[in-house]
Amino acid sequence: MSAAAPYDLTICRDSDELAHKAAALIAQVASESIRRRGRFTLALAGGSTPKATYALLADPSKQFVIDWSRTFLFFGDERHVPADDERSNFRMARETLVAKVPLSTEQVFPVDTRFDTAAECAAEYGQTLAAFFATRPHAFPALDLILLGLGDDGHTASLFPGAAALSEVDKVVTWSPPGVLPPPVDRVTLTFPALNAAEQVAFLVAGAGKAPAVRDVLVGDANVHDRPAVGVRPKSGRLTWLVDAAAASLLER
Ligand code: 6PG
Repeated sequence: MSAAAPYDLTICRDSDELAHKAAALIAQVASESIRRRGRFTLALAGGSTPKATYALLADPSKQFVIDWSRTFLFFGDERHVPADDERSNFRMARETLVAKVPLSTEQVFPVDTRFDTAAECAAEYGQTLAAFFATRPHAFPALDLILLGLGDDGHTASLFPGAAALSEVDKVVTWSPPGVLPPPVDRVTLTFPALNAAEQVAFLVAGAGKAPAVRDVLVGDANVHDRPAVGVRPKSGRLTWLVDAAAASLLER
């Protein structure tokens, strides 16, 4: 699989502008989704890049208005750690966003990481998503928006280079052993068909360390096993890349 699918690319001055543009995109998709379907289903990305975006969404003094009463939050991936562990993506989202906006527990769907194995956590999360979206067996839910990050190695969600999870085409959620980047814990992740069923996918990428992966994925001829983000090709949805200048520094302009 060669370079990324058709995409909209916005190069931001710095990570702060990236956060503002990401928050604006999320608010715009929320408004459109609620207008058209009466609800907004959003999968959050983990890691550190999205923190500033989540903080803007949670700040009532900012201009990013979201009807939280019609919003439902999910997670693109999770580490197999307790929900209060500092490595937990849910903990990061709770601290930056979930605990600061009017969402009930019935509107937030973290991965239940209390099972003994990541595989069990993945199976449970798949059932959670199937129940919420009422998807038929072997079908994939169409979330309104999935946020993704990009690792220096070109991974996204917890789809790591060379991992068996890259080949999962039947399940919505699977598990993976850790990749080469920290933290070295098993993961639970949405699969490529789940990501590619979304109405819209948005990558949020900042920092010079990501520049080689951004180049390889967007304009190189990288394959999905080396740079898994290449595999994010929404079947009918929109693909958006929000990249700061440092991460875009190896793109020809
Ligand atoms: C995770 C994320 C992962 C992350 C990238 C980028 O669980 O860590 O899902 O895919 O988005 O590794 O992470 P940073 O934003 O911290 O660079």
